[in-house]
Amino acid sequence: MAEEKQTTTTTTVSRHSEVGHKSLLQSDALYQYILETSVYPREPEAMKELRDITAKHPWNLMTTSADEGQFLAMLLKLINAKNTMEILAMDINRENYELGLPVIEKAGVAHKIEFREGPALPVLDQMLEDACHGSYDFIFVDADKDNYINYHKRLIDLVKVGGVIGYDNTLWNGSVAEPADAPMRKYVRYYRDFVMELNKALAADPRIEICMLPVGDGITLCRRIS
Ligand SMILES: C[S@@+](CC[C@H](N)C(=O)[O-])C[C@H]1O[C@@H](n2cnc3c(N)ncnc32)[C@H](O)[C@@H]1O
Repeated sequence: MAEEKQTTTTTTVSRHSEVGHKSLLQSDALYQYILETSVYPREPEAMKELRDITAKHPWNLMTTSADEGQFLAMLLKLINAKNTMEILAMDINRENYELGLPVIEKAGVAHKIEFREGPALPVLDQMLEDACHGSYDFIFVDADKDNYINYHKRLIDLVKVGGVIGYDNTLWNGSVAEPADAPMRKYVRYYRDFVMELNKALAADPRIEICMLPVGDGITLCRRIS
């Protein structure tokens, strides 16, 4: 019996490691239920178009899942965010931004986005020099995981007191709770230590309140309090 249960668990875990990016839920059916009941029926047309475009892209694994998108949209309304930053809007790869640009233009919101091409860290340093301290209501970080700690050092000054930073992928395919010698894909193993280091640093940072949610691949919300 114990052996049978073990087999079932192993099958479920390995199946989910395939879709781990989209959901850490241990049931595909339940995740599908969430998408079909809550997310897709209310999804704005532009978001659906973006989802369709990115689904066909060879790097579709990088896309924020539709349920996480819905969560972020709700959060931004709840906190009445006006001035926001996404590290994707400062990207080393312009093509990634341009992939969604026609949809953004069609939705009539392109004028709200100021795209900066290049690595994000120098752009953030420039913003700090330009005295943009405390000017952001919300910042979403979903870029190079090995720099998250470096982003945090800067973003904590750029977000306003009471504002929120969201760090994506903080459960990193579930690998953060796996033993170090567990089998993992190469890229999962490479970034795992950086993600775990960030999680520890956020938990110990007295300038923020935090909440780690198992939405998508895990998102940690940090509310600046000082
Ligand atoms: C996971 S994707 C972001 C996906 C996006 N949140 C979405 O839902 O479509 C990560 C992005 O970060 C960009 N990136 C990687 N390293 C970067 C860096 N040092 N500075 C700025 N952007 C970077 C990549 O080119 C990629 O477009």
